[in-house]
Parts: sequence; structure tokens; C-alpha cells
Amino acid sequence: MELYEQLHETAAAIRARAPGFNPKVGIILGSGLGGFADGFEEKVSLPYRELPHFPASTVPGHAGRLVLGKLGGEPVVAMQGRVHYYEGFTPAQVAFPARVLCTLGIKALVVTNAAGGINLEFAPGDLMVITDHLNLSGWNVLTGPNDDRLGPRFPDMSAAYNPQLRALLLECAQRRNIALRQGVYAILSGPSYETPAEIRMLRTLGADAVGMSTVPEVIAAAHMGVPVAGISCITNLAAGIGHKPLSHGEVAETANRVKDVFAALLSDFLPRIAKV
Ligand code: HPA
Repeated sequence: MELYEQLHETAAAIRARAPGFNPKVGIILGSGLGGFADGFEEKVSLPYRELPHFPASTVPGHAGRLVLGKLGGEPVVAMQGRVHYYEGFTPAQVAFPARVLCTLGIKALVVTNAAGGINLEFAPGDLMVITDHLNLSGWNVLTGPNDDRLGPRFPDMSAAYNPQLRALLLECAQRRNIALRQGVYAILSGPSYETPAEIRMLRTLGADAVGMSTVPEVIAAAHMGVPVAGISCITNLAAGIGHKPLSHGEVAETANRVKDVFAALLSDFLPRIAKV
């Protein structure tokens, strides 16, 4: 079965489990940030393993379910957990869930992640609006034959992180007195964290934060013509800056520490996108 048919089959399976529910905004919740969706109203939770063609994550801290519900009265859909290339999934599988959200007819996709801070002004616990990315993963989700029903062969990436959504996000943060950083997110394939030399290289290249996710989903959304907003939670100083070893424990701990601020920001932002 072709990707296009798979997407529609999965979307139909989701609609069958949540009849009449048409989410206006989709959000992908990164490492340690999944709890946000627990606060939705009229929730319907669908474990990934119950959805046809859906890849299920193997990483601790990634719950692996789709949560449909209402936020500020607006229908939204969240991915609690995502899959990564380093887990052994193909590029097409990594992008599949984001494509499903786009197939459900969302007006915008909000992507979030945990990231290491490269910019020396950043501190663990900071939130960063993603202004652009560096795809240094070594692969691209669009490799292979293009299906024109999904999007063009050569999608434009010059405003991949939608400027209007960015402005709206900054406005929401200001109203709630939440400090937001802005910067460029670089993806490396992982799963080993970067070396200090790699972090110096990334800083020279213009990266402010580094991680192992998000870029695939953003490229898939750009392909399908869905505007994107991105937020990184800076969970740790990148390798070689803080002179201490990096660990998933620290990443999870910091994400957990900022979860309330993060939730406050998103609870304001998502319904506002839906209303635009
Ligand atoms: N590097 C890569 N990925 C990450 C990091 C990091 O320092 N922190 C959280 N995800």
C-alpha cells in the first residue's frame, strides 16, 4: 500500500475512534513534555500500537499515544511521544505520525522537543522558539519517489517555521510573563550525545540548540503545506560547556521542572492558533 493510502487508512481509524472530532491544531510533545496532553478536556487517548501503520516508540519518557481533546474549547490533537531515526525506524516511519496529523486537516503543527543549549547565553530550563533549523542528520524524510498528492518534489523551506505563528507565540509568552529565547535548532542523528568538538562546530555553523528530532516532522509538514511553530526546551548545556557528562536523566529532570510554564504557554497559544 502506498504512503498516501496508509495515511488515509490511519486517519479513518482515528476518526472512527473519535467521531465528529476535527482537530484544528496538532502538537508533538517531546521528551518529558508529554504530560501537557493530560490536561485536555473530553479526552480520547489512542495508543500508537492500536493505530494501523503507526510506529511505536521505544524511548523511556515517550508514552506513545495520540490524545484528542479540547483545549480552551478548541479541538486539538497531541502526540505523546514520537519515534526517532536512531531507534531503527525508516525516515518515512519517523515522519508518518506528523503526516497523519496533517491528513486529519490541522491548520497548524506545533513541534516541541528537549534540546541541548549551544548558545552560551542559554541556561537549562529556558524555552526557545525555533526560528529555523540545520538538517545535519544526514538524511531527509522526502528521499525516494515523490507522491504529488502529498506535496511537491522540492518543497520551499524558506519560512518553514511560520513567522505569523512565531509572532503569536511571542505575544502569548509576553502576556503571561514567560521569557522566550529564539534560535536555530540543529539535528544530529544521535543516539550518542555530541562531542565538545561537534558542539563548537555547530556553534560556528549558527546553531543555538541541538537535538535528535523535530526536523523530519517539520519537513513533512512543509511538504504537505501545513504551517509549523517550534519550541525547544533547553534541558541541558550542550557537551563541553558545563564540564559535566550529559544524561537522559538530566534531560527528563529539566523538562519536568519547566512543565508548568510550558503548559501555561501552550494552553494560551494553541486555542489562539485555532481561532485565527
Ligand atoms: N544533545 C542532543 N539531543 C539532546 C540534548 C543534547 O544535548 N539534550 C536533549 N536532547
